[in-house]
Amino acid sequence: MADKLADLSPEERAQRVAEMKAKMQSAAKKAKTETPEGEPAAVAAAPAAASVKASAAPAPVAAEKDVVVAAPVREEVKTATNGHAGNGAAASAEVAGAATVVYSAPVIEEESPEEKARKEMNRREFLTYAWGAALGLLLLEGGVATFFFMYPRFRAGEFGGVFFVGPESSLPASDAVPVPYTDGKFWLVTTEAQEPRALYMVCTHLGCLYKWAPSNFRFECPCHGSKFSHDGYYIEGPAPRSLDMFEITIENGEVAVNTGRRIVGEPAADSPARVVPA
Ligand code: FES
Repeated sequence: MADKLADLSPEERAQRVAEMKAKMQSAAKKAKTETPEGEPAAVAAAPAAASVKASAAPAPVAAEKDVVVAAPVREEVKTATNGHAGNGAAASAEVAGAATVVYSAPVIEEESPEEKARKEMNRREFLTYAWGAALGLLLLEGGVATFFFMYPRFRAGEFGGVFFVGPESSLPASDAVPVPYTDGKFWLVTTEAQEPRALYMVCTHLGCLYKWAPSNFRFECPCHGSKFSHDGYYIEGPAPRSLDMFEITIENGEVAVNTGRRIVGEPAADSPARVVPA
């Protein structure tokens, strides 16, 4: 066949090559339609490629690529499985007159067991690190929340914080009128036992602001008539207990009232100033 092609004129050679192309395409189509579903098309395509190589090339056979003398005609045939050039199913033949180029299909190597094991290990390591990071983040959030919960939320001089009311010598006498500290919401008094007290300004009944009644030398609530002694003990009325107080500390002679620490007044029934109705 190669000798015959060499004897032909360029026009005749082109015609013969065109005929061969038509035959090859017909054979390829036929092989493709006869190929069972899912079977690699390389099985069907291989004969076609081999046919091209055998009929069009007088040149010696090469494993990957055969090139023989050039001529003006150039053609290309491609066959693939399911329209893709994967799975070793593609074969391509390029005919350039007397020249033929055959490309072998790409070979896809399967992963070795070692490679699969290595990838699996990488996934496990990633999950381990991810869990560790999530746990660390959770602990960090818990620590930050605890810190802010424990951190003092009030500054000195603000209600809820500490009030420095001066030296111990400046405390009111036990028979003196209570001194109001409106910002701290307390009355500063001294009991007959010379104990300083910071009485919370809110009534223990329903939360009204009681007043100092100088004529009776006691506290009286305008809302429901509860009455408390000068040092905060329950006298009478619907209040369930004596007045609440704030913690007082004396350091180096300085008196400090901590409005963040409230001491609940004792029950009305235990008050030494309670007036029992006749
Ligand atoms: Fe003070 Fe009721 S709120 S007596």
